[in-house]
Amino acid sequence: MNKELRQAIIAGNWKMNKTRPEAKALIEELKPIAANATCGVIICVPFTNLETAVELTKGTNIKVGAENVHFKESGAYTGEISAAMLTEIGVEYVIIGHSERRQYFGETDETVNLRTKAALAAGLKPIVCVGEVLEEREAGITEEVISRQVKLDLAGVSAEDIKKTVIAYEPVWAIGTGKTATAEQAQEVCAFIRATLAKLYDQATADAVTIQYGGSMNPKNAAELLAQTDVDGGLIGGASLKAADFGVLLEEASK
Ligand code: PGA
Repeated sequence: MNKELRQAIIAGNWKMNKTRPEAKALIEELKPIAANATCGVIICVPFTNLETAVELTKGTNIKVGAENVHFKESGAYTGEISAAMLTEIGVEYVIIGHSERRQYFGETDETVNLRTKAALAAGLKPIVCVGEVLEEREAGITEEVISRQVKLDLAGVSAEDIKKTVIAYEPVWAIGTGKTATAEQAQEVCAFIRATLAKLYDQATADAVTIQYGGSMNPKNAAELLAQTDVDGGLIGGASLKAADFGVLLEEASK
């Protein structure tokens, strides 16, 4: 982390977990634990928990994010939620292009780009996920894949808007597998993403963007990952579902 240049952010990604009573209990447990964090704290929760989360975190340092957003303003898109519907209830962030959306729900770089632009236009801050699958890493084309995703996913996003955007590097082979990227691997790709942004925008703009690592980050490996200059926090799945574990990550990112 380089806290002089940019904010470190720990964001929880609850995925399809927690009923409303369970969400309430976790948030109440989290509030005192998160209160001393000096890093950004976000919880991205299922749509059905958004209002509860916004309500319960009012006046705290915990920000609320959604896990997806549609790119159209309204219309015949059964099952989808618009950016305005999210901002209207007080949601500030949204995860876009998570590998599970790409893998199971047909998300492409084109739709990630549309969703990112729609989110920004509505005043939501996107957390855009990129990452290679195992075959791509083994074939030695990680940088090629990441460069392509960054360029396509962020096409047409202004320099001003990219500073409001968080990028999460999530190697697909590390998500939910317990297989974490080494600190060196995480640093290498996060630095590569920043270099790509510097080419697309300029160095000062690239230096201001928060780039997280995600993929089995947990209380045991967080310190080493977060010690890397270009790793500005984490997008946390499994370890965000337990207040104590999430608390350790907040503590590490606040050092
Ligand atoms: P994980 O998930 O921490 O459970 O690996 C990370 C993510 O999918 O964002």
